[in-house]
Amino acid sequence: MIIAIDGPAASGKGTVAKKLAEHLGVPYLDTGLLYRAVARDVEAKSGQLEDAAAAVVAAQSIDAQTLGDPGLRGPLAGDKASIVAKIPAVRAALLDYQRNFARSGARGAVLDGRDIGTVVCPDAHIKIFVTASDEARAHRRYLEHQGRGEAIPYETVLEDLRRRDARDSGRTIAPLEAAADALHLDTTNLDAEQTFAAVLALIAAKV
Ligand code: C5P
Repeated sequence: MIIAIDGPAASGKGTVAKKLAEHLGVPYLDTGLLYRAVARDVEAKSGQLEDAAAAVVAAQSIDAQTLGDPGLRGPLAGDKASIVAKIPAVRAALLDYQRNFARSGARGAVLDGRDIGTVVCPDAHIKIFVTASDEARAHRRYLEHQGRGEAIPYETVLEDLRRRDARDSGRTIAPLEAAADALHLDTTNLDAEQTFAAVLALIAAKV
């Protein structure tokens, strides 16, 4: 069973996807890390995030080990990722990795991102599109930053999220959008436990 979970930044999709994969005992891929790793490599090698040729080379050399770098998780890395994510050849170069991963688990896999239900795994058995209000998402990110000792003002976090969402939703290739057959979940008023319970309920109702 392949489960595709898409949604904007800080919607809660990553936390619930990871938990779900553990619960089901299947592999989990956070596909945002692929774009984050490409951005990091391009910046190191070419200094230019828009350098499509360097970005494709970076995308072709992605492997599981390069995704383990904790430095990939920060907000700046996410912003840079959304710039390389607009390059069609980068998305094409990352498709095989993601599809092979989806097929790698004997009992299925969970993948989360922006285009899993629409492009990467259009035949996924379960597709969930997770959203939350801009303010709720910004508040979560703000608290995460605080927890890491980073004093980023709430207003800045909100602006950054909105800018990244606009870039992801507005791009012509594989924009952030729900698949026509996706189940929708709004986590604005849900904590992680409630989100997990809601996802289990959606899946139970579908299978
Ligand atoms: O999910 P995360 O915030 O780590 O993603 C970082 C960026 O990578 C996103 O803002 C988006 O531009 C890009 N991305 C994408 N397609 C995916 C996953 C992430 O375009 N499937």
